[in-house]
Amino acid sequence: MGSEAEKLPPHVLIFPYPIQGHLSPMLNLAHLFCLAEFHVTFVVSDFSHRRLLRHTAVAATFARYPGFQFRSISDGLPDDHPRAGEKVLEVLPSVTNVMVPLFEKMMADEDFLASAGRRRVTCFVADGLLSSAVDFAEVNRIPLVYFRTSTLTNLWAFFHLNELIEAGEVPVKGDMDALVKSVPGMEGFLRRRDLPSFFRGGDDAILQTLAAVSRKIVRAQATIFNTFEDVEGHIASQLRKHMSRIYTIGPIHEHLKSKLVEKEAEAATLSGNFWAEDRSCMDWLDAQPRRSVIYVSFGSITVVTREQLMEFWHGLVNSSQRFLWVMRPDSIIGKNGSDQIPAELAEGTKEKGYLVKWAPQEEVLNHPAVGGFLTHSGWNSTLESIVAGVPMICWPYFGDQTINSRFVSEVWKMGLDIKDTCDRLIIEKAVRELMEVRKEEFLERAQDWAKLARKAVNKGGSSSCNLDNLVDYITSLVI
Ligand code: UDX
Repeated sequence: MGSEAEKLPPHVLIFPYPIQGHLSPMLNLAHLFCLAEFHVTFVVSDFSHRRLLRHTAVAATFARYPGFQFRSISDGLPDDHPRAGEKVLEVLPSVTNVMVPLFEKMMADEDFLASAGRRRVTCFVADGLLSSAVDFAEVNRIPLVYFRTSTLTNLWAFFHLNELIEAGEVPVKGDMDALVKSVPGMEGFLRRRDLPSFFRGGDDAILQTLAAVSRKIVRAQATIFNTFEDVEGHIASQLRKHMSRIYTIGPIHEHLKSKLVEKEAEAATLSGNFWAEDRSCMDWLDAQPRRSVIYVSFGSITVVTREQLMEFWHGLVNSSQRFLWVMRPDSIIGKNGSDQIPAELAEGTKEKGYLVKWAPQEEVLNHPAVGGFLTHSGWNSTLESIVAGVPMICWPYFGDQTINSRFVSEVWKMGLDIKDTCDRLIIEKAVRELMEVRKEEFLERAQDWAKLARKAVNKGGSSSCNLDNLVDYITSLVI
């Protein structure tokens, strides 16, 4: 390489799993790498690229960094595929069978994106769900860093799948409240019903795929987690015995904000939105008393039946609390023509509620009128609530959410877990408990966690130091 070429910065290739919950944190990682003056190539599906361009400021944000580029390829699914509810499970085989081969061909055809102003890829950051990444990286001798968008705890449970099966604890059956004995460190509080939902049986292929992906992670040179030491350090130290380099750099959305301030950068943080934000809810929130509103949102994948919708709606109205509810356009299944809203719900909503199709969630959670969050316990939502110091009622839908919700209620003690129920009385009681009866206790805990989260990402904090180490590590790969 000539002397000019030798001065080129590292070139990081980022390949997220192409759904919103994975894209958002990995876009934030890409932004952090841009601030470290790395060159970044971000692989995205055509479908998600179009959504991002339509609903976010992604183009303007990354236009500030000439070293950043998107590469868009097909995820193999038709545009009108829902990519939500159970159908989201169809994304994984399609990515494996269509998107990954297209990606590998692109790398081979373009000599790992080497060009006059850009090095050949220095480091490959692949989503923790992309199991073929490790073989690909080994064959092509490219250092691989996995990025897991879920918790260390979730990975730890997958690490112990064989022990769980041998002990007869998986597939989960019998007494769902029995404590699990085969996941070290969680013996005292983890019940069978709290294990990752795929451990419940029913779809052995997906369980085995996820277990295989989890085991492969140890072959990567490093792994990044969107978490922080105060919240999961005990599991990090166990996992460090199995994996060479673990970088806990979360909560990554807050980390990015902190770095943008530190560097006095003009760019703002981004959401990875696939939907148009309805900002009218911010005006509605402005008119509500402090800590009086419960925010209700189930993320980008969860779907509910009309019966479940009615239970939530009655529970919320009957609780007499104010509520702001995100009803994603594709989130209600089994509509059967009887879509009329009962009069008492329409009246109750007019009085105390506000509905939107998609909200600026981070801003909502940080609004002073918000005092609680009824959530599906997706990891991004959970971290956003932790940073904002907002207590949660957890109604996990699937995957890692079932274990996240147990940690919220039993370990971090910043909310209630109502998993496996969807009953208006239980919902009403939980909302009253969070917003009235135990309000101060939960708020105090939540504020304590918020302080720790912010400390982690500020200069000198654990996540901040880990990011510095990660940047040093990637820089050291330049040869
Ligand atoms: C999924 C999984 O649930 C999660 O656990 C996994 O680790 C990543 O992928 P999702 O189900 O969409 O994602 O939930 P979550 O992780 O909570 O992400 C949802 C994101 O959408 C959050 O960042 C949230 O701020 C955003 N959102 C949601 C909005 O911006 N507006 C809304 O109205 C609703």
